[in-house]
Amino acid sequence: MPRTSPKSTNIQWQHGLVTRDDRARLSGHRGVTIWLTGLSGSGKSTLARQLEHKLVQRNVRAFVLDGDNIRHGLNSDLGFSPEERRENIRRIGEVAKLFVNAGVVCITAFISPYASDRQQVRAIHDDGDFIEIHVNCPLTRCEARDPKGLYAKARRGEIKQFTGISAPYEVPEQPELEIRTDQEEASRSTDRVIRFLEERGYLSA
Ligand code: ADX
Repeated sequence: MPRTSPKSTNIQWQHGLVTRDDRARLSGHRGVTIWLTGLSGSGKSTLARQLEHKLVQRNVRAFVLDGDNIRHGLNSDLGFSPEERRENIRRIGEVAKLFVNAGVVCITAFISPYASDRQQVRAIHDDGDFIEIHVNCPLTRCEARDPKGLYAKARRGEIKQFTGISAPYEVPEQPELEIRTDQEEASRSTDRVIRFLEERGYLSA
């Protein structure tokens, strides 16, 4: 059921004949959102891709939604002001929820710097359907990596409102998992996430 009040009136929620349990029986697992949050260059996309690959290898339907990619299409009308980031995250949250209802393990890789925006996405999911993972890497390391050269541009003032430099990143207070990408190889982190999913019953071991 929807959890927000829509602008439209005279609309009714339509229930399908296929349940989530039906879909879970079909594929052998349930859908869930794995929400990666962290600074630009912290390793979210790398972890998301490796996780997706390992899950698909074991016949789990997994799909990545990645910040840079989504901003080319669905969210090509949004920039990086706090309001636009909120709308970015709101839309992605809704898309992720659709994937979950379709029985897919949806892995998202967005900076999602505001705690309230992440909380809102958690709130629209059913209990247990939202796993927040803090992809934690010190700003100095992200800036040293600077894979896209954006930190250098931000320091030169060529990018406004750049997260970590001239815009805030609110650290998750109670993520389900924290991954220290400055202390661990991506393959080990990936295995750790998969173990977490097994231990919590999202995947059969
Ligand atoms: S979010 O803050 O709204 O969650 P999102 O994950 O979609 O951000 O996009 C972040 C990506 O956009 C970064 O990895 C970086 O490549 C690029 N980018 C461009 N401008 C900015 C900016 N001002 N702040 C952060 N990232 C930016």
